[in-house]
Parts: sequence; structure tokens; C-alpha cells
Amino acid sequence: AAPRHLMSIADLSPTEFASLVRNGAALKTLVKTDQAPPALRAGMAGQTVAMMFSKRSTRTRVSTEAAVTLLGGHPMFLGKDDIQLGVNESLYDTAKVISSMTSCMVARVGPHSDVTGLAAGSSVPVINALSDDFHPLQTIADFLTIHEAFPSSRAASGGSLGVEGLKVAWVGDSNNVLFDLAVGCVKMGVDIAVAAPRGYGIPDAMRTVIHAAAQGVAAPGKLTETTVLEEAIKDADVLVTDTWISMGQEAETKARLQAFAGYQITNDLAKRGGAKEGWKFMHCLPRHQEEVADEVFYGPRSLVFPEAENRLWAALAVLEGFVVNKGKF
Ligand code: CP
Ligand code: NVA
Repeated sequence: AAPRHLMSIADLSPTEFASLVRNGAALKTLVKTDQAPPALRAGMAGQTVAMMFSKRSTRTRVSTEAAVTLLGGHPMFLGKDDIQLGVNESLYDTAKVISSMTSCMVARVGPHSDVTGLAAGSSVPVINALSDDFHPLQTIADFLTIHEAFPSSRAASGGSLGVEGLKVAWVGDSNNVLFDLAVGCVKMGVDIAVAAPRGYGIPDAMRTVIHAAAQGVAAPGKLTETTVLEEAIKDADVLVTDTWISMGQEAETKARLQAFAGYQITNDLAKRGGAKEGWKFMHCLPRHQEEVADEVFYGPRSLVFPEAENRLWAALAVLEGFVVNKGKF
């Protein structure tokens, strides 16, 4: 049978997405309390995961390598100068060859078509480790973080994480991290308000993807878009941002710094905007000073370091689900 790939959160039903997040939480507890069963520890024994990264990475690389190790497998890191891909060999041929020798490919690419191209030629699961369009591993970790930070009396079962009714405010650039986060919010019944300067809002094609995530969801989260920061922040439970200059956009640095002036998240902005009293802050990292002030980033509301650690538990849940359990979770 054809393998199941993870290109975006849009590939998952709400129940599947919620299961991956809950599995991440369960695996975190098991490993941290030293109760991981031998079957989990040996889940990928004798198997290799090829990690093909054409861009830099700290969290995604380390979490994936550590998760493969926890499952007893071997992570093989292949940087952009290590293999023929992109210089001397097509995506399809590369995927055919590498998938004939390994159990999974985890790929960080530029154009999203690079990761779907690998999937098209692969006989094993391909996991998107960040493309220009999506970052599903980040979104799973982010929902694990939200789930932990906002414990609910509602049962987290089936397609629910008990996070329904929360509001996320994304303040900054409309990028890959936002797109999967927004899809996840719609599926989980979390409202998401995006404040971006004119010209840096959600592209039409991506808005269609985000709205389509509501299909089959009884009470989907609502997407709203504005250029007015305070409008997005009003009543938000979580304020989120990311770099204004994603990898590959370095040539636009000057124009972007100008366009985003005034978008830095500060305690004053949260107050002025009327964020909820218990508001929290999230950021996928790496972080730069311009998008968030130290008082917030290192302050008591910040979830950024637990969020980063949760990348490990998200990677573990994804590898267990897609590779060990062959796409069932
Ligand atoms: N958040 C994230 O993906 O970080 P890295 O680029 O360090 O992997
Ligand atoms: N939006 C950022 C995320 C890095 C993890 C980028 O694409 O560079």
C-alpha cells in the first residue's frame, strides 16, 4: 500500500490531529517517568530515517534525531551539500533511491513542491520538516503546549483537545508557521485572529486551504484578518509571533523591517489591545528582538521553552504514528 505522508496539518482529520497531540502528551509522560515500554524503545530498531535538510535548523533537527534515537532507530542527517539532490539529481530519482534503503524521509525544503515531489517518488512516509508553506511538526508541538497551558474541564477525546473556544492572536508575518497553525486552530475550534501589515497578509490560495479545514468540523475555529494590532489582540488567550524574515527572504530584510515597524509584541501592546488577563506568549523560535520584547519573551507568560521542548514529543508521536504504526494514530 502507498505510504502515508505528512505534508501539512491539512492532511489530517480533526480526530487524527487531536490523537497525534494526545499521543505526544502520553509519550512525554512515559519517557519522562522512565516508563516507556520496550516495544516503544525498539519501535524502529534496525531502521534508518533520512533527514534531508536544505535549510538550517536547531529544533527540528535535534528533536527528530532524538526521537529516532528514543525509538531505537538511526537518524541519518543529510545537509544540502551532502547529497546529489537539487544539483545533480531529480527529486523523484532521489526519493526512489533513498526510500529503497530507509524507513522514512524527513525533509526541510524551500518550495513546498519539493517536499510533495519527494513524497511522489517515495515508497516510505515523507514528513515535512518545514517548507515555504507549512510546518506541521511545529503545529503539533504548539497544540500540545496550548493543551498543557490551558487545562480544561472538557474531556479531551475524539476530535477534541479540550481547547475549544480559546482565541489565538497571530501578530506579524503571514508565513509557513502561521498557515499550519491556522489550519490546526480551525480544526480544533480555536479562533485565530491575524494582524499583519498591508501586503503581508494571508495569500488567497492559503486562505482557501485554511477555510477548507472547517469541513466536517461541528464548531470550527474562526479566522479573522486585520491590519489593526489591537483588533486581533482583543480577548486573546495566546499571542503568537515568528520572525519577520523567514529563511529565503533575507534580501527583503530592509523592506520588511520597515513594514513591520510597530508590530513588536510588548506588555504594553497586550494591555492596550485588551488581551485576556491570563494571556500567554508563544514563538516557534529562533527569535529576534524586533518581533518580541525581552520582557515578554523571558517573562512569566512566555511558553517558548516548553514549546521548544514539545517539538521532541511531537516528533516522537509523528514517527510512531507514521512509521511504526504505518499511518494509524
Ligand atoms: N522552530 C523550528 O523549526 O526551529 P528550527 O529552525 O531550529 O528547526
Ligand atoms: N518562518 C520561519 C520558521 C523557522 C522555523 C522560516 O521559515 O524561516
